[in-house]
Parts: sequence; C-alpha cells; structure tokens
Amino acid sequence: MESVMDLKNYRKQIDSIDEQLLRLFGERMSVTQKIAGYKKEHGIPIFDPKREKEKLSSLNDPYEKKFVSALFELSRERQSEFSGRLYQSVDMTRAAARNILIINGPNLNMLGIREPELYGKKSYSDLVDFIRNVCSESGVQCECIQSNHEGEIIDAIQNARGRFDGIVINPAAFTHTSIAVSDALKAAGVPSVEVHLTDINNREDFRKVSYVSAVCEMTFSGLGFEGYAEAIRHFAKH
Ligand code: DQA
Repeated sequence: MESVMDLKNYRKQIDSIDEQLLRLFGERMSVTQKIAGYKKEHGIPIFDPKREKEKLSSLNDPYEKKFVSALFELSRERQSEFSGRLYQSVDMTRAAARNILIINGPNLNMLGIREPELYGKKSYSDLVDFIRNVCSESGVQCECIQSNHEGEIIDAIQNARGRFDGIVINPAAFTHTSIAVSDALKAAGVPSVEVHLTDINNREDFRKVSYVSAVCEMTFSGLGFEGYAEAIRHFAKH
C-alpha cells in the first residue's frame, strides 16, 4: 500500500519536472518573441494553420496533442502582444471555424480623433474590441492589422494566400488610388469583402471610385462598425 510519504515523493518529482518545464517554456517564449518580430517585418500572419496541423498530426498521444495545442495558443497570444497585432482565437475544432484576416488602411488608427463628425468618436482600439467580440460570437478566428503603408498592406494580402479563408479589408484612402492593392487581392485569390465606415458613394466624387470593389465579393459601406460585423458574418456563413 502506498503511504503519505510516497505521495510526498511523487509531488517532489513533479515539482522538479515542472521547474524544468517552466525553464524550457520561458526559452520557448523568448524564441516566440523573435518569431513575432520576423513575422511583423515580413507581413506574415501570426497563425499558421498548416504548420500547427503538421506538428499535431505527428503526435499520437491525445494528451501530448492537447499540451502542444496549448503551447501554440500561448505562443500566438505572446506574438500578438509583442507585435501589437490583434489575434483572436476560437476553438478550431468547431466545424464552422474560419480564419480571417482583417486589414485596416491608412489613418484608421486615428479613429475617434480624425473627423469625428464623419467617422464617429470611437477609437481604433474600440473597433478592435468590437471586431474581437463579433469574431468570438461568430466562431471565427481572426487576425486584425492596421497599416499606413501601402507596401505593408500588399505584403499582408500576398501572405494571406493559403493561410486565411477570407480577408475583410477597409483600404481607406488606398481604395480610391491603389491599383496595387487591388492587384494583390486578385493575385492572392483569397475571398475578400470591402468595408467602409462611411458611405463612399455619398461623399466627394473622388471617393466614389473604388479600385477594390471589383475584386471583392461584397462591399459594406456606410454602416460604421456594423459593416465589419456584416463582413465577418458573411465569412462565418460561407
Ligand atoms: C473610409 C473612406 C475613405 O474614403 C477614407 O479615405 C478613409 C476611410 C471609410 O471607412 O469610410 O480613410 O475607407
């Protein structure tokens, strides 16, 4: 019969193993941080479903699978925190789970400050919170980026190929100027939906031209934050 002493010994063993695990976990998280920097610099999304699937399918033990899945999740969370890119995760084992990339173009980081009479008083971080809630309600996994740089947006679109099921894009002023963003959407071939907070068809004439509409499945314009919700739900359904 096992005694209280045995239990104490087992716990001692566990404590010593945990110590080693946590040290290795710390090392892993430091590498994760480097990966976050690399991915941000090269416009590579945080979530790489192909790599995760490959690693998980190389394991047989269900507990090992769960353990490594938890490591992936924590790693994505750290990468998101470190690089300032939102990463919203949901349980990917849910049948309808989709992974979408949300791209916000120039000056959208100034929401709440820029022309509040047009764009509203809510900030960019309010928009991100809104997106996070809609994604989690709709069972959609998403990554949300904002950039003032055309090239960065193009890199993100190109890198979405094979990694995301859909793109929700508010190209902001690039809507009306950028053939390059439109070409990138076409080249990447990832189903995309265009969103504008304001109704671009009821503003200045130059805003009535959108180079991206033709390469997007749908456009939601003039619905404020709700336009993003409609776009996300579109991908959740399809
Ligand atoms: C916008 C409309 C664009 O015309 C403008 O340049 C923006 C935001 C919108 O969301 O309403 O920056 O895309």
